[in-house]
Amino acid sequence: MIGLLRRLIGGGAPQIRAAHPREAAAIAKLHGRSFHRGWSDEEVESLLVDRSVLAHSLRFGGVFTGFVLSRCAADEAEILSIVVDRRYQGRGFARQLLNLHLGRLAALGIKALFLEVDENNAPAIRLYRAAGFREVARRPNYYPLPGGRTAAALVLRRDIA
Ligand SMILES: CC(C)(COP(=O)(O)OP(=O)(O)OC[C@H]1O[C@@H](n2cnc3c(N)ncnc32)[C@H](O)[C@@H]1OP(=O)(O)O)[C@@H](O)C(=O)NCCC(=O)NCCS
Repeated sequence: MIGLLRRLIGGGAPQIRAAHPREAAAIAKLHGRSFHRGWSDEEVESLLVDRSVLAHSLRFGGVFTGFVLSRCAADEAEILSIVVDRRYQGRGFARQLLNLHLGRLAALGIKALFLEVDENNAPAIRLYRAAGFREVARRPNYYPLPGGRTAAALVLRRDIA
Protein backbone atom coordinates (compact mmCIF):
# COMPACT_ATOMS: atom_id res chain seq x y z
CA MET A 1 0.00 0.00 0.00
CA ILE A 2 2.81 2.41 0.92
CA GLY A 3 4.65 1.43 -2.30
CA LEU A 4 1.51 2.11 -4.34
CA LEU A 5 1.00 5.53 -2.69
CA ARG A 6 4.63 6.45 -3.29
CA ARG A 7 4.32 5.45 -6.97
CA LEU A 8 1.12 7.50 -7.33
CA ILE A 9 2.84 10.63 -6.03
CA GLY A 10 5.90 10.17 -8.23
CA GLY A 11 8.32 8.17 -6.09
CA GLY A 12 11.03 10.85 -5.75
CA ALA A 13 14.61 9.89 -6.64
CA PRO A 14 15.53 6.23 -7.13
CA GLN A 15 17.50 4.58 -4.32
CA ILE A 16 20.49 2.47 -5.32
CA ARG A 17 22.04 0.09 -2.79
CA ALA A 18 24.20 -3.01 -2.60
CA ALA A 19 21.85 -5.90 -3.45
CA HIS A 20 20.96 -8.26 -0.61
CA PRO A 21 20.57 -12.06 -1.00
CA ARG A 22 16.91 -11.70 0.01
CA GLU A 23 16.40 -9.83 -3.30
CA ALA A 24 17.43 -12.96 -5.26
CA ALA A 25 13.87 -13.91 -6.23
CA ALA A 26 13.04 -10.37 -7.40
CA ILE A 27 16.25 -10.23 -9.46
CA ALA A 28 15.61 -13.67 -11.00
CA LYS A 29 12.04 -12.65 -11.90
CA LEU A 30 13.11 -9.39 -13.57
CA HIS A 31 15.98 -11.09 -15.38
CA GLY A 32 13.66 -13.87 -16.60
CA ARG A 33 11.27 -11.34 -18.14
CA SER A 34 14.09 -9.91 -20.28
CA PHE A 35 16.14 -12.90 -21.39
CA HIS A 36 15.40 -16.15 -23.20
CA ARG A 37 17.59 -18.12 -20.79
CA GLY A 38 16.62 -17.05 -17.29
CA TRP A 39 18.36 -17.54 -13.94
CA SER A 40 16.81 -19.56 -11.11
CA ASP A 41 16.38 -17.94 -7.67
CA GLU A 42 19.16 -20.25 -6.42
CA GLU A 43 21.57 -19.19 -9.20
CA VAL A 44 21.00 -15.53 -8.33
CA GLU A 45 21.37 -16.17 -4.63
CA SER A 46 24.70 -17.93 -5.17
CA LEU A 47 25.88 -14.91 -7.19
CA LEU A 48 24.80 -12.50 -4.44
CA VAL A 49 26.77 -14.34 -1.75
CA ASP A 50 29.84 -14.72 -3.98
CA ARG A 51 32.55 -12.35 -2.73
CA SER A 52 33.80 -11.78 -6.29
CA VAL A 53 30.37 -10.48 -7.37
CA LEU A 54 29.32 -6.84 -7.00
CA ALA A 55 25.56 -6.28 -7.15
CA HIS A 56 23.36 -3.21 -6.84
CA SER A 57 19.61 -2.93 -6.81
CA LEU A 58 17.48 0.09 -7.60
CA ARG A 59 14.19 0.91 -5.89
CA PHE A 60 11.78 3.60 -6.89
CA GLY A 61 9.08 4.64 -4.46
CA GLY A 62 10.11 1.60 -2.41
CA VAL A 63 9.45 -0.75 -5.35
CA PHE A 64 12.20 -3.05 -6.65
CA THR A 65 12.83 -1.71 -10.15
CA GLY A 66 16.25 -2.82 -11.39
CA PHE A 67 19.62 -4.36 -10.73
CA VAL A 68 23.17 -4.69 -12.05
CA LEU A 69 25.62 -7.54 -11.37
CA SER A 70 29.35 -7.83 -12.11
CA ARG A 71 31.94 -10.50 -11.45
CA CYS A 72 35.48 -9.34 -10.59
CA ALA A 73 38.70 -11.24 -11.27
CA ALA A 74 42.00 -9.55 -10.33
CA ASP A 75 41.76 -6.01 -11.76
CA GLU A 76 39.13 -6.82 -14.40
CA ALA A 77 35.37 -7.24 -14.15
CA GLU A 78 32.55 -8.48 -16.35
CA ILE A 79 29.07 -6.99 -16.19
CA LEU A 80 26.82 -10.06 -16.08
CA SER A 81 23.52 -8.24 -16.42
CA ILE A 82 21.71 -4.95 -15.98
CA VAL A 83 17.93 -4.75 -16.12
CA VAL A 84 15.35 -2.05 -15.42
CA ASP A 85 11.70 -3.05 -15.12
CA ARG A 86 9.96 -2.29 -18.45
CA ARG A 87 7.44 0.00 -16.72
CA TYR A 88 10.27 2.26 -15.51
CA GLN A 89 12.54 2.32 -18.57
CA GLY A 90 13.54 5.50 -20.37
CA ARG A 91 13.84 7.58 -17.17
CA GLY A 92 17.63 7.40 -16.85
CA PHE A 93 17.51 4.70 -14.13
CA ALA A 94 19.95 2.35 -15.89
CA ARG A 95 22.38 5.23 -16.46
CA GLN A 96 22.29 6.09 -12.73
CA LEU A 97 22.62 2.43 -11.73
CA LEU A 98 25.56 1.90 -14.07
CA ASN A 99 27.33 5.12 -13.00
CA LEU A 100 27.18 4.20 -9.33
CA HIS A 101 28.22 0.61 -10.07
CA LEU A 102 31.22 1.77 -12.16
CA GLY A 103 32.29 4.06 -9.33
CA ARG A 104 32.20 1.16 -6.85
CA LEU A 105 34.16 -1.08 -9.24
CA ALA A 106 36.79 1.65 -9.64
CA ALA A 107 37.02 1.96 -5.84
CA LEU A 108 37.68 -1.81 -5.69
CA GLY A 109 40.68 -1.36 -8.00
CA ILE A 110 39.08 -2.58 -11.21
CA LYS A 111 40.95 -1.26 -14.25
CA ALA A 112 39.06 -2.81 -17.17
CA LEU A 113 35.43 -3.79 -17.62
CA PHE A 114 33.94 -6.16 -20.19
CA LEU A 115 30.46 -7.25 -21.17
CA GLU A 116 28.60 -9.07 -23.90
CA VAL A 117 25.47 -7.67 -25.48
CA ASP A 118 23.13 -8.82 -28.24
CA GLU A 119 24.02 -6.70 -31.27
CA ASN A 120 20.28 -6.03 -31.82
CA ASN A 121 19.77 -4.65 -28.30
CA ALA A 122 19.69 -0.95 -29.20
CA PRO A 123 18.77 0.45 -25.74
CA ALA A 124 21.57 -1.48 -24.01
CA ILE A 125 24.17 -0.59 -26.67
CA ARG A 126 23.21 3.07 -26.38
CA LEU A 127 23.48 2.90 -22.59
CA TYR A 128 26.92 1.29 -22.74
CA ARG A 129 28.32 3.55 -25.47
CA ALA A 130 27.22 6.63 -23.50
CA ALA A 131 29.07 5.16 -20.49
CA GLY A 132 32.29 4.91 -22.52
CA PHE A 133 32.26 1.25 -23.61
CA ARG A 134 33.76 0.40 -27.02
CA GLU A 135 33.40 -2.72 -29.18
CA VAL A 136 36.41 -5.06 -29.09
CA ALA A 137 34.98 -8.26 -30.63
CA ARG A 138 31.90 -9.79 -32.25
CA ARG A 139 30.75 -13.37 -31.58
CA PRO A 140 28.38 -14.66 -34.30
CA ASN A 141 25.53 -17.05 -33.38
CA TYR A 142 26.14 -16.45 -29.68
CA TYR A 143 22.64 -16.06 -28.25
CA PRO A 144 20.00 -18.75 -28.87
CA LEU A 145 16.63 -17.21 -29.75
CA PRO A 146 13.16 -18.80 -29.86
CA GLY A 147 12.54 -20.75 -33.08
CA GLY A 148 16.13 -22.00 -33.40
CA ARG A 149 17.45 -18.61 -34.51
CA THR A 150 20.57 -16.99 -33.05
CA ALA A 151 21.96 -13.49 -32.55
CA ALA A 152 25.53 -12.25 -32.46
CA ALA A 153 27.10 -10.83 -29.31
CA LEU A 154 29.23 -7.72 -29.25
CA VAL A 155 32.02 -7.73 -26.68
CA LEU A 156 32.43 -4.25 -25.21
CA ARG A 157 35.26 -2.91 -23.07
CA ARG A 158 35.78 0.14 -20.94
CA ASP A 159 38.98 1.08 -19.16
CA ILE A 160 38.73 2.78 -15.78
CA ALA A 161 41.46 5.35 -15.29
C1 LIG B 1 19.02 -1.61 -21.31
C2 LIG B 1 18.14 -1.10 -20.17
C3 LIG B 1 18.75 -1.58 -18.87
C4 LIG B 1 18.10 0.44 -20.22
O1 LIG B 1 17.33 0.86 -19.08
P1 LIG B 1 16.68 2.33 -19.00
O2 LIG B 1 16.49 2.65 -17.55
O3 LIG B 1 15.52 2.41 -19.87
O4 LIG B 1 17.85 3.23 -19.60
P2 LIG B 1 18.03 4.79 -19.40
O5 LIG B 1 16.69 5.43 -19.29
O6 LIG B 1 19.03 5.02 -18.32
O7 LIG B 1 18.65 5.19 -20.78
C5 LIG B 1 19.98 4.83 -21.10
C6 LIG B 1 20.19 5.07 -22.58
O8 LIG B 1 19.47 4.09 -23.33
C7 LIG B 1 18.61 4.74 -24.26
N1 LIG B 1 17.38 3.99 -24.38
C8 LIG B 1 16.54 3.63 -23.38
N2 LIG B 1 15.48 2.98 -23.92
C9 LIG B 1 15.68 2.95 -25.25
C10 LIG B 1 14.97 2.41 -26.35
N3 LIG B 1 13.81 1.74 -26.17
N4 LIG B 1 15.48 2.53 -27.59
C11 LIG B 1 16.67 3.17 -27.80
N5 LIG B 1 17.41 3.71 -26.80
C12 LIG B 1 16.91 3.59 -25.56
C13 LIG B 1 18.35 6.09 -23.66
O9 LIG B 1 18.00 7.02 -24.69
C14 LIG B 1 19.65 6.43 -23.02
O10 LIG B 1 20.58 6.91 -23.96
P3 LIG B 1 20.91 8.48 -24.01
O11 LIG B 1 21.47 8.80 -22.63
O12 LIG B 1 21.90 8.55 -25.09
O13 LIG B 1 19.62 9.17 -24.27
C15 LIG B 1 16.67 -1.59 -20.31
O14 LIG B 1 16.23 -1.30 -21.61
C16 LIG B 1 16.49 -3.06 -20.01
O15 LIG B 1 16.35 -3.47 -18.86
N6 LIG B 1 16.48 -3.90 -21.08
C17 LIG B 1 16.28 -5.34 -20.90
C18 LIG B 1 17.49 -6.01 -20.30
C19 LIG B 1 18.74 -5.79 -21.13
O16 LIG B 1 18.72 -5.90 -22.36
N7 LIG B 1 19.86 -5.51 -20.44
C20 LIG B 1 21.16 -5.33 -21.04
C21 LIG B 1 21.70 -6.61 -21.47
S1 LIG B 1 23.43 -6.79 -21.31
